[in-house]
Amino acid sequence: MDKLKQAIIEQGVVVSDQVLKLDALLNHQVDPQLTMEMGRQFADLFRSEHVTRVVTVESSGISIAFATAYALGVPLVFARRKKSLQVESEVLCERVPSFTKGMVTDLLISKEFLKENDRILFIDDIIANGDAARGLIRIIERSGATLIGAGIVVEKCFQPGANALRESGIRLESLAKIASLEGGKIVFAE
Ligand code: G4P
Ligand code: NA
Ligand code: NA
Repeated sequence: MDKLKQAIIEQGVVVSDQVLKLDALLNHQVDPQLTMEMGRQFADLFRSEHVTRVVTVESSGISIAFATAYALGVPLVFARRKKSLQVESEVLCERVPSFTKGMVTDLLISKEFLKENDRILFIDDIIANGDAARGLIRIIERSGATLIGAGIVVEKCFQPGANALRESGIRLESLAKIASLEGGKIVFAE
C-alpha cells in the first residue's frame, strides 16, 4: 500500500527509537480517502472468512474499523476504555496496561454485541506490545465468538506484539511494517 507508506513518510514524526507520532493520519486527524481505501484492503484480505462483526478499541481504531466494516457490510463494535468500573454481568471486561498512557485501563464490550456465533475481525491502528490486542482477544474468547483474524494499519516489527499474536495462531495482516525508527529514520520492512 504505497499511499500509506508515503503518508507515513511525509506526515509521521519520529518521537524516539520506539514511538512514531501519526497524529496527521491516524491519531488526531483522519484522511477519509486513504482510510476507506485501507478498509477495502482489509475487507479483501478477510472477505472469504465470512466476518459477521468488526471489533476495535476506541478511539483511534474506530475510523479504520468503520471503513473495513462498511466494505464488508457488517456492524462495527468498539470496545470502550474505562479507568474503573463496577463490572456488570452483561459486560465483558479485561484490564490492560497502556504503553503510551503509562497506566492500566479496562476494555469493555457488552455481551449484546458479541455473540457465540459471531465471526470477528479485529482491526486496529497500531500494534506495539500488543497488550490492548491481547485484552480484546480475551474478551472475544470469553464471549464464545470466533476470532478469524486481525488487520493492523501499522506494525512496529521491533516490538513483540504482532509476532506474538501470529505465534499464538492468529492470522495477523498489517498494511505497513516498520522495521526501525533508529536515528529518526523510518525504515519499512520488506
Ligand atoms: P499495544 O496496544 O500494542 O499494546 O500498544 P501499547 O499498549 O504498547 O500502546 C498503547 C497505545 O499507544 C495504543 O493506543 C497504541 O496504538 C499506541 N501506540 C503504541 N506505539 C505507538 C507509536 O509508535 N505511535 C503511535 N502513534 N501510537 C502508538 P491507544 O491507547 O489504543 O489509544 P488511542 O490512540 O486509541 O486513543
Ligand atoms: Na493508538
Ligand atoms: Na488503537
